[in-house]
Amino acid sequence: MLEKIKALHEEIAAVAASTPEEVEQLRIKYLSKKGAVSALMADFRSVPAELKREVGQKINELKTFATEKINGLKETFAVAEDSTLDEIDLTRTASPMSVGTRHPLSLVRNEMLRIFASMGFTIAEGPEIEDDWHVFESLNFPPDHPARDMQDTFFISRDTVDILLRTHTSSVQTRVMEHAQPPIRIVCPGRVYRNEAISARAHCFFHQVEGLYIDKNVSFADLKQVLLGFARQMFGPETKIRLRPSYFPFTEPSAEMDISCDICGGKGCAFCKGTGWVEILGCGMVDPNVLKACGIDPEIYTGYAFGMGIERITNLKYKVKDLRLFSENDVRFLREFEAAH
Ligand code: DAH
Repeated sequence: MLEKIKALHEEIAAVAASTPEEVEQLRIKYLSKKGAVSALMADFRSVPAELKREVGQKINELKTFATEKINGLKETFAVAEDSTLDEIDLTRTASPMSVGTRHPLSLVRNEMLRIFASMGFTIAEGPEIEDDWHVFESLNFPPDHPARDMQDTFFISRDTVDILLRTHTSSVQTRVMEHAQPPIRIVCPGRVYRNEAISARAHCFFHQVEGLYIDKNVSFADLKQVLLGFARQMFGPETKIRLRPSYFPFTEPSAEMDISCDICGGKGCAFCKGTGWVEILGCGMVDPNVLKACGIDPEIYTGYAFGMGIERITNLKYKVKDLRLFSENDVRFLREFEAAH
């Protein structure tokens, strides 16, 4: 038995392999369950009791030796694989890293701001957590206006109705006017919150861009021209606009603006409900009460304001039918806007 172990030891000491497959063959030959070393274990039963200790030790030594030898051979190949470093072509461009894409709402907001910047508007921002005065009071909302109701507005604390999440970016108008004197020409992008049940057509938060221009002799005609310029840059040079009389507490007169339906070209389709027009924003001449509340003399200055939803503009531009897609962050949806960069 001891002879046999010694012979096997010498045999294993002498093995060599030139491929990883050959190493695997050797492993099977010596170390697998049916391998030569395991076979010795079977013979071990017939070894006389007084020799068992010595033989057992020798078998264990052999097993360790064989394992080390084979692992050693394996390692030479692992290193050999690395040595292909020499063959790496360092002049090749690196494999592309996957980078994120801009959110569609960011793309559209940036485009909107770019257009207004080209017409002389600068950007102003304000807080999302606001007080009643900036969101409602200064903007001429009557005390019993439904927007002041729990139904529509999120309040921050149970104890007071004074601190709330802004329901529109019109609050930024007040924030700017209370500290600046005209001329003021700003656009205010930001997130707004409303207590709405979430569905394909409504969400409890969305985004708006507010516009404000206050100066001497600002007229409704100026407003119309700026909005026409915006619509044409945003939706194409053939786009038509129409203004319909409306009501907002902070503007007088007030209007809502439609653009010619960009899907049917104004002929009438399911998207524009057969009318050929789709509504995109609210606007009007700033109510003198608002100017007064902010310390601007309405006898000297006039101005216009407008406000629109970024989601709405994005829906029109990219035909997104479900508002929820904008906040679910499904990468399959977000990747569809890669080409728009
Ligand atoms: N704040 C209005 C809203 O959230 C939008 C709006 C309408 C803003 C008319 C204006 C405006 O500045 O003049 O629905």
